Amino acid sequence: GMRFRLNALRIRTSLEQTCELEMVMTVSMQGKVALVTGAGSGIGRASALEFSAMGAKVLAIDISEGNGQETVNQIKLLGGEATFLRLDVSDSSQFSALEPAIMNAYGRLDFAHNNAGITGQGRSTHQITLDEWSNVMNVNLTGIWLSIKEEIPLMLKTGGGAIVNTSSGAGLVGIRGAAAYTASKHGVVGLTKAAALDYARKGIRVNAVCPGFIQTPMTGFSIAHDAEDTVEFKGVPIGRMGSPIEVARMVVWLCSDAASLVTGAVIPVDGGAVAQ
Ligand code: NAI
Repeated sequence: GMRFRLNALRIRTSLEQTCELEMVMTVSMQGKVALVTGAGSGIGRASALEFSAMGAKVLAIDISEGNGQETVNQIKLLGGEATFLRLDVSDSSQFSALEPAIMNAYGRLDFAHNNAGITGQGRSTHQITLDEWSNVMNVNLTGIWLSIKEEIPLMLKTGGGAIVNTSSGAGLVGIRGAAAYTASKHGVVGLTKAAALDYARKGIRVNAVCPGFIQTPMTGFSIAHDAEDTVEFKGVPIGRMGSPIEVARMVVWLCSDAASLVTGAVIPVDGGAVAQ
């Protein structure tokens, strides 16, 4: 859709259109390459599709081959370019596959959306098992650090880039029954800020998004099975759940040149949930 619009705008010459043309051009990512972790579902799939809609080529990373391939198929059906890489972000030994995958497919890396995440079991803090704690930390926090560790050298090769990490409302306030998740997502906020400082003079911006209650497979279960649904919605000022694309648009904007002054920022995309 975006590329079609871009072409349509290119052939218009009236002064009135110039502003809109400039806006569209600012977010155009033709010739750029983006990777997305957790690209097989929900928010990650939406951002992979959105990067592609802006003209970027996409490396879709997920632990699930079927779901990740489906994202790639959807991008290709829409005329974009994408490749799938199966990688468990909690397993440091699997990251050696990342550089060859990105270099063989596209030869560069400009943007990364480090998004793969899991929730944990919903138990009180003292009832969390060490296995559950470690698992949530390893995927949600260590997984993002390991991803950044691979991405930075690739971005430095071309003189810069932009990274967006998926934190959560739970990165800003506590969530009952989710201590490990809350701790991991607060960790993502700190990691984002420190990494932003490390590369601020090197052309790499690092930001985080904090989605609120977004309709994805991760939340689908609780929506379908939780009779208290309507009570939950009352807690969202905007009065509805978010859709993955509403988060994806922020992610892609943060990677675009339109966000050239934005680094170390932690941005709620949650219909006002953490504003109250
Ligand atoms: P989802 O469960 O729909 O998608 C997550 C994807 O990550 C899946 O495709 C899964 O296979 C993949 N994944 C899980 N563990 C992985 C691993 N170790 N290595 C590689 N891939 C892995 O979840 P959703 O809702 O799209 O969430 C994406 C991110 O957004 C997560 O970090 C989540 O914590 C965060 N988030 C989601 C919210 C929501 O309401 N849905 C709210 C706040 C944050």
